[in-house]
Amino acid sequence: MTVHPPTQRELGFATRQLHGGIAPSVAEPRPRATPIYLTAGFVHEDFDQAADHFATGDGYSYTRVANPTAEAVERRVAELERGAEALLVGSGQAALAVTLLGLLSTGDHVLASASLYEGSRGFLLENLPQLGIETSFVTEANDEAVWERAVRDNTRALFVESIPNPKNDITDLAVIARVAHRHGIPLIVDNTLATPYLLRPIEHGADIVIHSASKFLAGHGSVLGGLIVDNGTFDVERSGALFPQLTRPGRLGGPSFAERTGGRARIAYLREVAALRFGPTASPINAFLINQGIETLSLRVTRQSANALGVARWLEQQPEVHSVDYSGLESSPFHGLARQYLPDGQGSVFSFTLAGGIDAARRFVNALEVFTHMTHLGDVRSLILHPTTTSHTLRSADELSQAGIWPGTLRVSIGIEDLPDLIDDLERGLGAVRTAG
Ligand SMILES: Cc1ncc(COP(=O)(O)O)c(C=O)c1O
Repeated sequence: MTVHPPTQRELGFATRQLHGGIAPSVAEPRPRATPIYLTAGFVHEDFDQAADHFATGDGYSYTRVANPTAEAVERRVAELERGAEALLVGSGQAALAVTLLGLLSTGDHVLASASLYEGSRGFLLENLPQLGIETSFVTEANDEAVWERAVRDNTRALFVESIPNPKNDITDLAVIARVAHRHGIPLIVDNTLATPYLLRPIEHGADIVIHSASKFLAGHGSVLGGLIVDNGTFDVERSGALFPQLTRPGRLGGPSFAERTGGRARIAYLREVAALRFGPTASPINAFLINQGIETLSLRVTRQSANALGVARWLEQQPEVHSVDYSGLESSPFHGLARQYLPDGQGSVFSFTLAGGIDAARRFVNALEVFTHMTHLGDVRSLILHPTTTSHTLRSADELSQAGIWPGTLRVSIGIEDLPDLIDDLERGLGAVRTAG
């Protein structure tokens, strides 16, 4: 945004989450809230303006191309993530699909961390191979030499989550960014669980940040949405040959994306070709609701992280709990990285494992009254899920144990309730486990 405080001091995050991303064209009188442009398209002023729009992209024509309510979210999230430009799509899965399908071609290879959300892992394992795009998974996700050795001549993207779902096993982004840049390929980071309030991957070398906006950005659990944020530093000299779709002339011999949009070539291509053609457009109503959510992001995430730490500390002391995977705990092997990358809080999605296995997990979940039992996260309400019988059923026993997900493991997403009420609820769950024992 353009407001400058008298001191030229940069506005704080909470101020920017409220005032960033002003709707571009707003009728008089000016509404305080971002208007919902609930329309399939926009009327052209006259014959020449229509032709001008199609030639230059200026203005609006059709909501799948651009919509002012969506643009308000895009501008705000680009600003909060310290990116150059953002693109709103219909879900987090759509953000990943548009990014990878736009940037990759048959014969390309992706290098991804093994610790990933199941939907992303499934897309890499099952959908991309149908197009002749292979992925290898790195298990030692913070070892630079391992990433370096795994890069192939045809590797075109590295992909990680900043706070991986569900193990809270923090990623050393700067290390992986170094590997990516040595090879002129982008580091793509799913920042859903951290949110730009806790961590801005672009500040640590990421080139593209993606989000499931359905989670913390919205926060209310009412809508789905996804975002792609690009740092705007596509380097045609260094990487042009790796991404021919960005450097070849337009269909009738016009300028290439790189010539026309410079460092923004990647996001311009994702917006104008990939998202436009694949078509996962977010509804303007969902865009509005995501924007409303973002206005309280820092307040929610601060409280959720504090509650999560309180819950994790309490769980760690219970004899029925075998282990707690939360990087905010001093006992976590990821605590050092959490202090480096997440000094303001380690997020609120993590897992813990009950010693009593699946029977204990069943009794525990069924006894809870405050936690909601559902497959979602980042909601203001606390949520719980048993991965091995729900989200992770497509993983083999070996894959599950490699990922540290056991029959007694539960994933929680901690909300903004009063901490004593959450602890009482968890105590109720452990009570049910003890009664059975
Ligand atoms: C880390 C992460 N990325 C992406 C997604 C997919 O987002 P969506 O459900 O909005 O498609 C999820 C969903 O749980 C997620 O946890």
